[in-house]
Amino acid sequence: MDRGRAAALLLCVAACYFVTTSAFKEQDFKKCETNGFCKRNRGVKGTKYSVDPASVKVDGAELTAVLINSEPQEPVKFNLMLRAYGPVLRLIVDEQPSEHPGRYQIPDILMPGLKQRLTAWKGQSTAHTWTGSVGDVTVKLTFATFKLEVQVKGSPAVVFNSRSMFNVEHPRKKQEGDPEGWWEETFNGHADSKPAGPEAISIDMSFPGSQHVYGIPERATNLALKPTAGADVASEPYRLYNLDVFEYEHSSVFGLYGAIPVMLAHKKGQTTGIFWHNAAEMYVDVETAKEGQAVQWITESGVLDLFVMTGPSPAEVTQQYGVLTGTTAMPQLFSLGYHQCRWNYKDEADAFAVDAGFDEHNIPYDVLWLDIEHTDGKRYMTWDSRLFPNPVQMQEDIASRGRKMVTIVDPHVKRDSNYYVYKEASEKKYFVRTKDGTEFDGWCWPGSSSYLDVTNPEVRGWWAQQFTPDRYQGSTKHLYIWNDMNEPSVFNGPEITMKKDHLHFGDVEHRDIHNVFGYYYHLATAEGLIHRGSNVSVYGEHGDRPFVLSRAFFSGTQRVGPIWTGDNAAQWSHLAVSVPMVLTLGLTGLPFSGADVGGFFGNPDAELLTRWYQLGIYYPFFRGHAHLETQRREPWLFGEDTTRRIREAIRGRYALLPYIYTLFRHTNQTGIPLMRPLWFEFPDQPALYGVEEEFLLGPGILVKPVLQAGAQSVDITLPEGAVWYEALGGAAFPGKTGKPLTTAVHMDAIPVFYRGGVIVPRRDRPRRSSAAMANDPFTLVVALDGSGKAVGDLYIDDGRSFAFSKGQYLHRRFIYEHGVLTCDTMPQPTGTPEGTLPSKLLIERVIILGLPAGKAYTARSTVNKMHSVVSGAGVDVRLAKGSAVVVRAVNLPLASDWSLRLLEGVAAE
Ligand SMILES: *[C@@H]1O[C@H](CO)[C@@H](O)[C@H](O)[C@H]1NC(C)=O
Ligand SMILES: *[C@@H]1O[C@H](CO)[C@@H](O)[C@H](O)[C@H]1NC(C)=O
Repeated sequence: MDRGRAAALLLCVAACYFVTTSAFKEQDFKKCETNGFCKRNRGVKGTKYSVDPASVKVDGAELTAVLINSEPQEPVKFNLMLRAYGPVLRLIVDEQPSEHPGRYQIPDILMPGLKQRLTAWKGQSTAHTWTGSVGDVTVKLTFATFKLEVQVKGSPAVVFNSRSMFNVEHPRKKQEGDPEGWWEETFNGHADSKPAGPEAISIDMSFPGSQHVYGIPERATNLALKPTAGADVASEPYRLYNLDVFEYEHSSVFGLYGAIPVMLAHKKGQTTGIFWHNAAEMYVDVETAKEGQAVQWITESGVLDLFVMTGPSPAEVTQQYGVLTGTTAMPQLFSLGYHQCRWNYKDEADAFAVDAGFDEHNIPYDVLWLDIEHTDGKRYMTWDSRLFPNPVQMQEDIASRGRKMVTIVDPHVKRDSNYYVYKEASEKKYFVRTKDGTEFDGWCWPGSSSYLDVTNPEVRGWWAQQFTPDRYQGSTKHLYIWNDMNEPSVFNGPEITMKKDHLHFGDVEHRDIHNVFGYYYHLATAEGLIHRGSNVSVYGEHGDRPFVLSRAFFSGTQRVGPIWTGDNAAQWSHLAVSVPMVLTLGLTGLPFSGADVGGFFGNPDAELLTRWYQLGIYYPFFRGHAHLETQRREPWLFGEDTTRRIREAIRGRYALLPYIYTLFRHTNQTGIPLMRPLWFEFPDQPALYGVEEEFLLGPGILVKPVLQAGAQSVDITLPEGAVWYEALGGAAFPGKTGKPLTTAVHMDAIPVFYRGGVIVPRRDRPRRSSAAMANDPFTLVVALDGSGKAVGDLYIDDGRSFAFSKGQYLHRRFIYEHGVLTCDTMPQPTGTPEGTLPSKLLIERVIILGLPAGKAYTARSTVNKMHSVVSGAGVDVRLAKGSAVVVRAVNLPLASDWSLRLLEGVAAE
């Protein structure tokens, strides 16, 4: 949400009219030039760091050494550590203990138990180098000048400090008058005192042979990151600093609401990931050099704590990152349905009318959202009693149709001693403090506000107590939460956020924790819902999984809940950029995300809105949302044709829920993203490395959104090495990477393809919500590859509690081969309890794509060794362009092992 227009609203009388102009306010934000640590270090060259050869010690999995900066008159020494955790390396450079308070290292992000993965080095030293290896990974540490090369199976993956841009600003004495501005800096009238003086760190990395690098969200720009430095390039570097950016631009290096300091470099045969475990502000320059991509990272403070995920495949890099920072929490099934949001559904009557509108128009949806106006004066966890006099009844009524509600709860707390949250938190001294120790008073939605210091575990524990219905009056078990503004947004602060010299728990400066603040608030809120959900009499013995949407994020947010891409606009360019934005989040370990369908600012016309729904159903998180001043845009307000098209799109999402939920099971177990760039699945085809207008959902569905107004046709890249089946027409196309397929498009759908070799489970009966589908049978779409095979799986559990983690789930595997489809148990990663969920659910239909057309078939099934002829089998259905064999009424039990044999040329009974 934005303040600019809200402020304007206050000045505006009834008939006031706004003209929207491009309103990104560049002058509100720093640039590298106006940000001391970046200006000092960007492009720094020829630094003089070397390893003292006599200091090198290797003890099992840990190498330690002393790193010396010989540039100052009095050389400065640092401690260097290099560890291996199997295929993941970790390089740490920190100050040697001194009088200086020491550099801050963020707790709470890395997974516990990492230590158990430490792997011993096999190494040897010469006078100038140390070489060590672990499995396929070899590292070579050159002592002078300090350089670290990482190779995988003999091929170079990444080299650190090959350009001598490594620099650690060491502790120093404040000079009289601070001539360099090292101890105080002012931006737009906001002074930043820097008690520790300069403490930035710069490091360069090069990725030999890689044409592209990816990652470092969040920003609205390309998937493959464009160069920001080097000959003929004049650009700001990429920035990682969580900010509330009003009306962000669609093609910009500028950092938005969240930060994940993870980058991937890819070339044929080798994907390499970098994770800098540090939550201070960062800048990243990307340069295309002769030998590959060369990058420079600069952070304002903290330690150098770099992880290298050596892959070598893209999927392994995401898995290795999942081992470090955790994988996506298993979501509740309802949260994968459609969410309807608006700033604001005005009152109870409005909420009921929107809810009824979906039923009148036979459009499924799962969640109705309330933005800030539902509260009593932006005091979160209260209700405006005039507009929402009976919130409990309202939630119960909507829940009676299988649906949920979400309310917004933000981290700024109105400074009103009659407001219980403020009163209690203030008495307990739970708020962020200014540099002189007083409770910080900043301006946000409620006016004068204080901000909970969620970096303090005690504050998080207290906050997590606030979500039970006795504390949060007017809430019910059907209500879930949305955290906005948690960058944190401070309307009157520098760059619309908090001052860097504010103080947190343990007197840690805001500077050191800025990018992780939003994560902590999100975490504490989700813990609140877990705590609420542990009430056995309400939720049963296995509790309730939390659902909390956040705008700010950091590494580790995936363990907490989904995020959305913030305040986008109803423009075609924002529709297009949503694809690389969501893809990038998936590559950096945060796959549960989506963009606001329709665009938050401005008014989409019917065409843009239709195209957005047609794409949005494939976002892992699927929500429609709109700004306070936009025209109403519920799906039935644009005429019958549009209503029908949006209905079809949303029903398509619901049909795919079994597939999407199964993909969440995989990402929960392995860290592999749902939405994937084409190169992620076809890593050996360089022509795919820059493709960002189309993507795969899981391994099996290729989506080509229509991103232009009035498009008559689109060019689709179908990767080589697979057969692709048009989802609607059924026609089969062999993949040809270098030769796009030009296809005519109409308004009813966007091009979508099933990938040969994959089996996709669906539920095809249209219902009003995901809850209403609980007993519906499944359809399997079996898309055959060139050799007539396909594999897939289907995961189910109760969709809401933690019982799955105790084995109350079913995970079934399907294999089609030699004309026989079999169903058995899906093998699980070690340590997973065996799945035992009693279930009467059936597979009712099997659709096979890729069999020779024009033949008759019979099907025979064998369940628990009992044979039977399937009635209704053997129907060869001619589709628009291709053909499919549809085996109806197979009614095979999901919970049993069975096989289904297709017999060609035998007349059906
Ligand atoms: C899967 O999600 C659950 C929470 O829903 C979490 O407790 C668990 O740790 C996740 N699994 C893995 C392997 O991380
Ligand atoms: C559980 O919920 C019930 C019903 O709302 C309530 O009466 C009870 O106090 C709750 N128990 C706990 C431990 O909070």
